[in-house]
Amino acid sequence: MRKPAVLITGASGEIGHGLIEKLAADGDRAIVTLDLAPLDPSLAKKVKSEIIGSILDRVALERILAEFEVDLVFHLAALLSTRSEFSPLTAHEVNVGGTLNLLEFAQQQSSTHGRPVVFMYPSSIAVYGMPSLEIKAAAGRVKEDQWTESTTMYGCNKLYCEQLGRYYARHYKQLSAEHMGQVDFRGLRFPGLISAVTVPSGGTSDFAPEMIHAAAKGEPYACFVRPDTKIPFMAMPDGVAALLALAKAPRAALTLPAYNLGAFAPSAAEVEAEVRRAFPGAQISYKVDVKRQGIVDSWPADVDDAAARRDWGFTPTYGFESAFREYLIPTIKRRYIGGPDL
Ligand code: SER
Repeated sequence: MRKPAVLITGASGEIGHGLIEKLAADGDRAIVTLDLAPLDPSLAKKVKSEIIGSILDRVALERILAEFEVDLVFHLAALLSTRSEFSPLTAHEVNVGGTLNLLEFAQQQSSTHGRPVVFMYPSSIAVYGMPSLEIKAAAGRVKEDQWTESTTMYGCNKLYCEQLGRYYARHYKQLSAEHMGQVDFRGLRFPGLISAVTVPSGGTSDFAPEMIHAAAKGEPYACFVRPDTKIPFMAMPDGVAALLALAKAPRAALTLPAYNLGAFAPSAAEVEAEVRRAFPGAQISYKVDVKRQGIVDSWPADVDDAAARRDWGFTPTYGFESAFREYLIPTIKRRYIGGPDL
């Protein structure tokens, strides 16, 4: 029998970075990646097959289907929220059309090898749409089924793809008599993710990681949201750990198509204070972009992740201070300034 394989789309993005390291260390599946951009050379050597291509290219997916026995998919490829607002049609094509292609791929893989294909899907806090700052403040930690009237194309795309995943998992071709494969869809609604080793591009939660990386590089940074702006964030290692933990959870324990994940929910001013603590000379100012501010204001101040904690034991390692003091700052300093103890 062929060694089972894991397919990662969007693998050269921020989440893919940490995920490939961990999956390679596990070593129980051959790693196949699909991305428009090449992988970092340090990561490329850890994967069995690196395919440079698009999730919209069904022929590329057919080739993977023919060559590998995929039983786990991490579908990370997407256009983030800010970028999606500039080209909503392209966003829909990539975020929805691409996900549909991958769900169909998983379905076909499962029919071929007869085992379920676990389909890991990062959704987002962008699925929420708080109607006003007053309601956002009063709502506090929102549950998965509350306030899901997103104001962004990206958020609408994510919400719909959660539903598509639920459809593929439970109701696919429900009127057909033939035996079907099974897509075991598992979604996570990530808060803003902050990595010490990569910077995001095209997102709207980018102000926090941008502020930290700019300070470490000694560059000035004009934050595009008000100091009192508050949304949930998570350190990237916890995001990767959550993906892996949910992928391994017993199916029977799972009750939702997509789970909230929270870790800490600082205001931009609190992020700034932590950055200044580490880099006292940081040049941080505020130059509010009213439109991007509007998007961040429509995201909840925090999320209720009780279901993830209950169903599959989600527990983030890092809180606000420890994320900065034990992960972000030491790792970023090593990256930009060098030396382990700086
Ligand atoms: N980080 C994402 C964005 O800002 C939210 O999922 O678009």
